[in-house]
Amino acid sequence: MPLHHHLGPRSHEDRPLLPTGCTFDAPDWYLMARCWFPVMRSEDLRAAPQAARLLDQPLVLYRAAGSVVAAADACPHRGVPLSMGTADPGGIRCRYHGLLFGAEGRCLDVPCQPGHPVQAQLHLRTYPTVERYGLLWTCLWPQEGMRPDIPVMPHWDEAGFQQAVCPCYPMDCFAGRQLEGFIDVAHLPWVHAGTFADPDRRGVPSYDVHPRSDGFAMDYDSDMPNYPVDSGRRAPEGHVWRRHFEVHPPFAASLTLHFPGADRAVVMNIATPVSALRTHLFCPVSRNFDTDRPVEEMIAFNLRVFDEDRALTEAQRPRNLPLDVRVEAHTRADRITLAYRRRLLQLGYRRFFVDIA
Ligand code: FES
Ligand SMILES: [Fe+2]
Repeated sequence: MPLHHHLGPRSHEDRPLLPTGCTFDAPDWYLMARCWFPVMRSEDLRAAPQAARLLDQPLVLYRAAGSVVAAADACPHRGVPLSMGTADPGGIRCRYHGLLFGAEGRCLDVPCQPGHPVQAQLHLRTYPTVERYGLLWTCLWPQEGMRPDIPVMPHWDEAGFQQAVCPCYPMDCFAGRQLEGFIDVAHLPWVHAGTFADPDRRGVPSYDVHPRSDGFAMDYDSDMPNYPVDSGRRAPEGHVWRRHFEVHPPFAASLTLHFPGADRAVVMNIATPVSALRTHLFCPVSRNFDTDRPVEEMIAFNLRVFDEDRALTEAQRPRNLPLDVRVEAHTRADRITLAYRRRLLQLGYRRFFVDIA
């Protein structure tokens, strides 16, 4: 897991400024800023610099000398977005006056002052990056001495598993609402009958939630099938469909699906908070069956499932995730989503942002 370091010290006292136009409540922003989030698929970052956004902070990502650089998307010279720049063998060049930025955000060339040393203020202040599960992760406020809190995706590195990464799926909703939808088991027969669910299996058998150091886990055993409905495949009579969830607050969870025999499929759901009402859903997937079939099939299936959820998740009101359990009403099937809200409260989150709808 390569970890690329930023230039200059960044310590606990070195608190970043809130981004201009921040849509989050400041105390919650500072909690989220310490977390690692994917901002792009690795395969989507080629030679040209790319713009991204995390927690309202505009970012530029580029490759230089075999590593990935993430920095604020503003040239230190006159503030032109570096994502408007161009690829250069040494890194990227700003479009305005041609400054060249390379590995670790170092400014390597100032074409208007040939023969003079580069001023220290022209180096970029960068954010650390890690490449994992085919995604580029970063953190706006890394904590001294702490390892990146990138959740474990079961089976990803195991022999016999085929992997794929869905393209970034943007949604007009808060990340917490999206994540909660991923772990909600009662909506399957109502929303996902077009992809895998049986609309007649409506009851949710009881299940337990188990706390873990970085979140919690849950085994949901039911007769709700998971084969694509258009595949015509059926599990043998009496097969128990186990859905093993591992939830990593604030906005990541994995689901390991137990198909008949030893067949497994894993879906990881990471909701990156671009801004309060904008979320980029990143979803690496893997399976140890049908591995001779194209990975595009897995990707297309998951995108269809997201499409089924989208309109509902985007329509939920209030738009933030109410952590006060009195705000919304709950059923016996909601043990897992209540555990999620409770854990967010324990972590110190309060309201995320002031509701605007
Ligand atoms: S604004 Fe980027 S080089 Fe001047
Ligand atoms: Fe769903």
